[in-house]
Amino acid sequence: MKTHAAVLWGTHQDWKIEEVDLDPPKAGEVLVKWEAAGLCHSDEHLVTGDMVVPDEWREASGMPSMFPVIGGHEGAGVVLEVGPGVTLVGPGDHVAASFFPACGRCRWCVTGHSNLCDLGATTFGKGQISDGTSRHHINGEDIGIMANLGTFAEHSVVNQQSLVKVDADLPLAAVALVSCGVTTGWGSAVHRAEVQPGETVVVVGVGGVGINAVQGARMCGARNVIAVDPVEFKQKAALDLGATHAVASMDEAIPLVTELTRGQMADAVILVPGVMYGDLLAGAMTLTSKGGTVVVTAVAPMTQLQASVNLFELAMYQKEIKGVIFGSGNPRFDIPRILDLYRGGQIKLDELITQTYPLDRINQGYQDMRDGKNIRGVLTF
Ligand SMILES: NC(=O)c1ccc[n+]([C@@H]2O[C@H](COP(=O)([O-])OP(=O)(O)OC[C@H]3O[C@@H](n4cnc5c(N)ncnc54)[C@H](O)[C@@H]3O)[C@@H](O)[C@H]2O)c1
Ligand SMILES: [Zn+2]
Ligand SMILES: [Zn+2]
Repeated sequence: MKTHAAVLWGTHQDWKIEEVDLDPPKAGEVLVKWEAAGLCHSDEHLVTGDMVVPDEWREASGMPSMFPVIGGHEGAGVVLEVGPGVTLVGPGDHVAASFFPACGRCRWCVTGHSNLCDLGATTFGKGQISDGTSRHHINGEDIGIMANLGTFAEHSVVNQQSLVKVDADLPLAAVALVSCGVTTGWGSAVHRAEVQPGETVVVVGVGGVGINAVQGARMCGARNVIAVDPVEFKQKAALDLGATHAVASMDEAIPLVTELTRGQMADAVILVPGVMYGDLLAGAMTLTSKGGTVVVTAVAPMTQLQASVNLFELAMYQKEIKGVIFGSGNPRFDIPRILDLYRGGQIKLDELITQTYPLDRINQGYQDMRDGKNIRGVLTF
């Protein structure tokens, strides 16, 4: 069949809307009609090259280039057709994408860490999870799909391991956000920082992901949740969604957190700016209490090897620095769980969608993200 998708042909380019030839689903694969796709900052990392495997590294390991690639890994839609052997979903089912697949069988999946599933190794590959071949083509050329998904498209063929069935009455734009940003931000506070009642939590960067670390921290019973973001409208949104205080920079947060905690500082600092740079760790370490935790959620350029960490302080104050992917949870459990919290009014999703765009306005959507105008922009089809 033919479909339309936003394709990136290389770094530092605009997304181009292309007609794509889509093969039918093979064994274990599913044809999905996407209804909504979130404009997460991670797709922007493909444009800037921050999350593109450098040529030298790729060539050394024999990996093909990921370009051209259909973007998008936050998405929700309806199953149109399934290939042989698909048991997890059927035609007509409403599904959330899971930006990391979960096989259910590997060491990580069976020990409750599906966010580290071994199938993630295929993320920067070009083809399908099953056999590495492509179902997406333009003029006979194979086209990659971001995170094995490609949600910036009317339709895609993806592996069943990358989908989670959801209740059909939920609005699919809200469901789309849970397929990456909400689960990642919420889990950064709930699972990775393991925020406890009465604690003080600082969230640095309250965009589409970080705002959900605010919601997660508040849900865990944090006494103080300090949102840090230079954009005033995002500070206001954070205050509406559970932050107790909001400031423009980590420098501004230091005296505030000192006063709020009688100098003990924050139990957890969660770093979710648009791009992670090593020098941001210095401020985060200053904001963290003895025995406290810094959680690094934001994606750094792949080649970023330096970080400003006082190693004496790290050991002698027994601080922790923790990475996190997909909120350190299990998508088949956490996605429905967060949607139940949304149904119950305990977590807000509709409020996160600042603007919706048709597919052919995707570049405007990303410009609005860069300009700080959106908590989340969402493509609707
Ligand atoms: N670890 C994971 O599994 C995972 C998953 C999804 C996204 N991410 C990453 O999380 C990050 C955030 O994504 P997003 O979609 O929320 O991006 P976004 O652009 O919507 O939000 C980033 C926010 O950070 C703010 N900001 C930028 N620099 C700052 C600074 N120095 N101090 C304070 N605030 C600052 C911006 O004003 C913006 O509000 C990205 O790096 C993204 O790739 C990681
Ligand atoms: Zn994402
Ligand atoms: Zn697995």
